[in-house]
Amino acid sequence: MSQDLFSPVQLGELSLNNRMVMAPMTRARATRDGFATDIMAKHYAQRASAGLVVTEGVYPSEQGKGYFNTPGIANDAQASSWQKVVEGVHQQDGKMVMQLMHCGRIAHPLNRKADLAIVAPSAIKPKASLFTHEGMKALLKPQALLTSEIQTVIDEYSLAAKSAMAIGFDGIELHCTSGYLPAQFLASNSNQRSDSYGGSTQCRCRFVLELIEALVGVVGSGRLGLRIGIGNTYNDHHDDNPAKTYQYLLKEINFFPLAYIHALVNGDFDGDTPAFIRNLSSHPIMLNDGYNKESANAAIKQGNADAVSFGRAFIANPDLVERFLDDFPLNVLNDKTLYQGGEKGYIDYPLIND
Ligand SMILES: Cc1cc2nc3c(=O)[nH]c(=O)nc-3n(C[C@H](O)[C@H](O)[C@H](O)COP(=O)(O)O)c2cc1C
Repeated sequence: MSQDLFSPVQLGELSLNNRMVMAPMTRARATRDGFATDIMAKHYAQRASAGLVVTEGVYPSEQGKGYFNTPGIANDAQASSWQKVVEGVHQQDGKMVMQLMHCGRIAHPLNRKADLAIVAPSAIKPKASLFTHEGMKALLKPQALLTSEIQTVIDEYSLAAKSAMAIGFDGIELHCTSGYLPAQFLASNSNQRSDSYGGSTQCRCRFVLELIEALVGVVGSGRLGLRIGIGNTYNDHHDDNPAKTYQYLLKEINFFPLAYIHALVNGDFDGDTPAFIRNLSSHPIMLNDGYNKESANAAIKQGNADAVSFGRAFIANPDLVERFLDDFPLNVLNDKTLYQGGEKGYIDYPLIND
């Protein structure tokens, strides 16, 4: 039987009803203290017909917080606030993983506890800015993590993953692209360390590999996904040789029982990203970035993808699965309410059956 977006799939231990994944999307609807809110529970439950829902980036420690009104899982109270969210998705027979996102140097003191240092692999100021309640602000020079502090960061991730699993998440996705902390370690422009976590390809990959090992130890076999972007340069991270970095990384990752590799396909990379990953990786592959029903089905048919994630289309169409199935027209995205607006542009997009 030929497979398409609507056929079930097994990604590690995750049994998906279909291959349409809701991509992780920061929407800034948490409280200032990082608690998941009731409208977040409603938003995700509305989209639970996706084969898998990936949460927005969630900070594993207060030090990992970068953005305004984003949620965390850095303490018990924040963890408990997620229970209603994951239960809402499960009640609709959906599956949900939490994306852990440590922002590293992509952070501003106005968005978090001001006395916490902003940390990164190296003390290099990113040429980027981000939104705060006082408007857009240029980023600052971070502090380089001491070698002895790196294990603490890994332990914080592990604790966060443990809390997420304890309240019922089906797994964890590690955010390892878009210029956040793991990507800062991988990229040659943001990692200029001279210890065993910087320098050669192997050393720049060490943090990510140690983190994966720790997280697999917490979540178990087949429940950890990894988000990557080969040649992704978002937030001023640039690697001199992404092909070499990912050739090594993807091969090493084959030693771990991951659920999936979630790859952004549009990077500054001279090559066919899906084929490159397929050739190197033994894990199920989820592709993302600019797909529609036709191109996603083509990627599945060609054997390049086991699943495809959709971002903006799921924002505007809670019932995207049904719309794709029956070729119904799609709602138009309101980009003014991506990061603000409360309920507006968040839980009020119409369903086809409204
Ligand atoms: C509002 C918004 C917030 C996003 N936040 C995140 C995030 O927290 N974590 C992440 O990995 N990607 C994030 N992304 C990227 C999306 O997951 C996805 O890669 C992107 O939207 C491209 O997919 P699409 O063409 O299907 O929309 C975000 C995208 C948007 C539009």
